[in-house]
Amino acid sequence: MPTEAKWWQSAVIYQIYPRSFADGDGDGMGDLKGITQRLDSLASLGIDAVWFSPFFRSPQKDAGYDVSDYKDIDPLFGTLGDFDTMLEKATSLGIRVIVDLVPNHSSDQHALFQAALKAAPNSPERDMYMFRDGKGDSGELAPNNWESVFGGQAWTRITEPNGELGQWYLHIFDSSQPDFNWENEAVKLEFDSVLRFWLDRGVAGFRIDVAHGMAKAPGLPDLKQNLSTMTGLEDKNSQAHPFWGQDAVHDINRRFRSVLDEYDDRAMCGEAWLPTIEKMAKWVRPGEYHQTFNFNYLETPWDKAKLETVVNESLIGFGAVGAPSTWVLSNHDVIRHATRMGYDKVPKQGDGIGPNYPQPDEAKGQRVSRAATAFMLGLPGGAYLYQGEELGLPEHTTIEAKYREDPTFFRTKGERVGRDGCRVPIPWEAHEPAFGFNKTGESWLPQPASYQRYARDTQEGIAGSTLELYKRLLKVRKEFDMGNGELIWAPEHASENSLAYKNNGVLVLANFTGSAISMPAGELLATTQHDLLVEEVLEHDQVVWIKL
Ligand code: GLC
Repeated sequence: MPTEAKWWQSAVIYQIYPRSFADGDGDGMGDLKGITQRLDSLASLGIDAVWFSPFFRSPQKDAGYDVSDYKDIDPLFGTLGDFDTMLEKATSLGIRVIVDLVPNHSSDQHALFQAALKAAPNSPERDMYMFRDGKGDSGELAPNNWESVFGGQAWTRITEPNGELGQWYLHIFDSSQPDFNWENEAVKLEFDSVLRFWLDRGVAGFRIDVAHGMAKAPGLPDLKQNLSTMTGLEDKNSQAHPFWGQDAVHDINRRFRSVLDEYDDRAMCGEAWLPTIEKMAKWVRPGEYHQTFNFNYLETPWDKAKLETVVNESLIGFGAVGAPSTWVLSNHDVIRHATRMGYDKVPKQGDGIGPNYPQPDEAKGQRVSRAATAFMLGLPGGAYLYQGEELGLPEHTTIEAKYREDPTFFRTKGERVGRDGCRVPIPWEAHEPAFGFNKTGESWLPQPASYQRYARDTQEGIAGSTLELYKRLLKVRKEFDMGNGELIWAPEHASENSLAYKNNGVLVLANFTGSAISMPAGELLATTQHDLLVEEVLEHDQVVWIKL
């Protein structure tokens, strides 16, 4: 007998980046009060849950992914009381709330790291992080050759309490983000307690940051090649990486899962950038994560053959371990897909786009990203959306150096501009200060003038707008329960340049390139091509959903 479907297996989860969603107090930085006021708009969009990027206490050296207190809200975003109010409102709207857990590293301002700095080498306090003696005659060289994902070396040398230069600590990211030692039981107990704190408060689950990085290879061996990326491997088949995707991390996965299983119906999704879907699927075996982001899907361009392959690999790979796949096109670390898809050759993820880079073709980006979304939202499984994509929002690709905040920019001396371009406050009302982000016009990152055209109020109720397209797709997806459906390729409805699949009585037909194609008969449920009813042929870079 089939078991009852769980909410997360088919959920559409909307990522809120708290700094940039809505600013209630007008200081230019988004906050929980602002978010609470805007939650109705998410209910009308038709999503099932929200995932919040971190709003915990933090010096904000990496936009909140440097946590100094996991059990409190940073004053920038409000208070625990504001969180409870937001949670109550979300719950009343039928929206579940997922928070971001950052267990690979803390902030260097975390009490545990401060205690480690004050304690002696080899003390229990030091053992909670990754301290090592340096190499060279007087320990002046880093313990190994690892580089930070944000550029520069992954080790920083400290000054010991006696005033002398001493040990080094590991930070896979910024020097303000020391890595925890996940072999230490006290670290595990600490995170059991953090998980329970938020579960007791009523969250539906967690997005787990850097879920593939917590276990390091014994002896911390040198890397043959430093790539400073989240997978670290150029060749998908090369041997294991010393800190990405180590086998020992699965014990940590199971530990988190056992805490979640103390509660009803909670779920966790891992941010695990792994080179193949086969490896990703290991993260969602029984007793481990419920979901993992399908970054292979995110990295697949709008290309018939490549999409067909990645969908097949995903359904087979995740299916083999009994897990539904997830689908995602954008988040706060990658170039927004409305911009990415406006390039023939996509700039490297994580490096971002600056004013001196070749600029994208905006119209193409809009056309292709709408089609890519309509293709994705028809697939069975869970889906993740990133705030602003429902407006077709492009990346801010011309941010001046003086506004940059991403540590990548500073650690590479501007060589890689980083991820600020996808993190700019989103536009709500075209003719309000900061396009409705707040009432004062302040904004922690500047908004480009073009955001006026994408403001939500210019799209609300307008036939053919991207916002109305998302609403329609989400509505039909729910009506036909496509999230819990089964994909069946329908080559009989496709041509050389198009791809068709069926899912729970809906035919999804995508035309990729070349000439227009005729459409099969049937009720039109949703379309990216605004004038379709008149023309009755599907142009390239367009997707249609038809009732079979
Ligand atoms: C994850 C986050 C990213 C952050 C990094 C370090 O990849 O998504 O924003 O910079 O981890 O915490």
